[in-house]
Amino acid sequence: MRAVGRDALKLLGGVLAVGATVLMGVQGCGLFESERVSKGRSLYRHYCMHCHGENGRQNEGFNWITMPDPRPRDLSIRNEMETFKDEELYLTLYRDMKDTSEDGGDAIGEDEFAVPTMPTFKYTLSQEDIWATVAFVRSLHGVSLTYDVEGQVQNLQEKVTAAQTKLDEAKKALELAEEKAEAAESENNDEEVAEEEEEEYLEEAMLPEEEALEEAEMEFHEAKQEFERFTKRPRYAQISRPDFTVSGERRQQLAQVGERLYYNKYGCNGCHSVGGQGGIVGPPLDRAGFRLNDTWIYRWIKYPQAMKRKTRMPNLGITDDDAQAITMFLKTLRAPKPDQSIQKVSN
Ligand code: HEC
Ligand code: HEC
Repeated sequence: MRAVGRDALKLLGGVLAVGATVLMGVQGCGLFESERVSKGRSLYRHYCMHCHGENGRQNEGFNWITMPDPRPRDLSIRNEMETFKDEELYLTLYRDMKDTSEDGGDAIGEDEFAVPTMPTFKYTLSQEDIWATVAFVRSLHGVSLTYDVEGQVQNLQEKVTAAQTKLDEAKKALELAEEKAEAAESENNDEEVAEEEEEEYLEEAMLPEEEALEEAEMEFHEAKQEFERFTKRPRYAQISRPDFTVSGERRQQLAQVGERLYYNKYGCNGCHSVGGQGGIVGPPLDRAGFRLNDTWIYRWIKYPQAMKRKTRMPNLGITDDDAQAITMFLKTLRAPKPDQSIQKVSN
């Protein structure tokens, strides 16, 4: 009975999909909506489902119940979720983490979303990926994305093409100017102009074209970067070198700062537990101070994807200073093994 029911559903799904393809074909879009939603679904399953649940409902994801407050809202309630604009949902995912500490925290605007235990994905996914997850979140409450992702890709592509044209023209203009200057130089040869003067003349003659070329190069570079930020995930070639040479008291101070950042800014406790408190997406960190060395921790929290491409731990855009402080905090976590009353110090 069940198998039959499922097949019937599949068939119905197939008919719907064909219908949608025909419709979209007529409209002539590139990546059509259902494709975007299904890309969003697979990103959501990888990065969001543990906290938000398969259908966006409360207490559906395995991490929901263990998370500190505020726990994720129900993303499937249409009349609540409809009050958010697409751009607002996007900015929930594409933001910098803010220190929400009462004293000495960051300034946070009234309409700004700053819940530490909702991680940012700005440093893990491309902008296009994030729009796809927003499109999927929309589908959870039966709404379609209105933001024109395809149009934005096209727009950015056109900007790159225009900048490329301008760059080519600037290159040609400079070549022409160089030829002209050389011609002028050979005319001057008879008069035996001192070489120094000649060079000065050449430099001056080329200045405007050179400047224009520099500007065109910059514009092209910027347009390309903007396009890549949209379509490609961030990559991190440079791993900064942490400074762990600080001693005693300073180290303690930094560890305290790190603790604050761990809870109030980067919401690590949304996914990790210490002392049995916190999420269970990642391993408990009670013994991180024994098990992990500081350079490793630093590199891991700054570039999780560089060390394990498919990890579910997002890159939170942690600054060098913050990463140093958090590492020092983690190094203070040296709980005894749960089943062992006398511990051996192994580090
Ligand atoms: C570690 C758990 C966790 C993960 C992982 C997580 N979220 Fe959240 N999310 C939260 C919490 C906590 C909130 C804040 C409470 C609330 O407003 O729902 C939140 C809020 C939201 C909101 C509501 C925003 C608002 O303005 O209230 C959206 C939408 C959302 N998350 C989408 C996502 C998407 C999409 C992903 C994956 C790319 C994701 N979340 C990953 C915990 C998580
Ligand atoms: C969305 C959930 C999530 C958030 C937020 C998160 N982590 Fe993780 N973390 C994980 C997961 C999952 C792993 C396991 C890595 C793997 O194997 O893919 C992990 C692994 C780690 C490890 C290695 C642990 C070990 O025993 O091997 C450390 C250290 C760590 N995280 C620290 C942090 C710190 C510090 C923060 C906050 C700045 C943080 N994590 C935020 C999910 C998260």
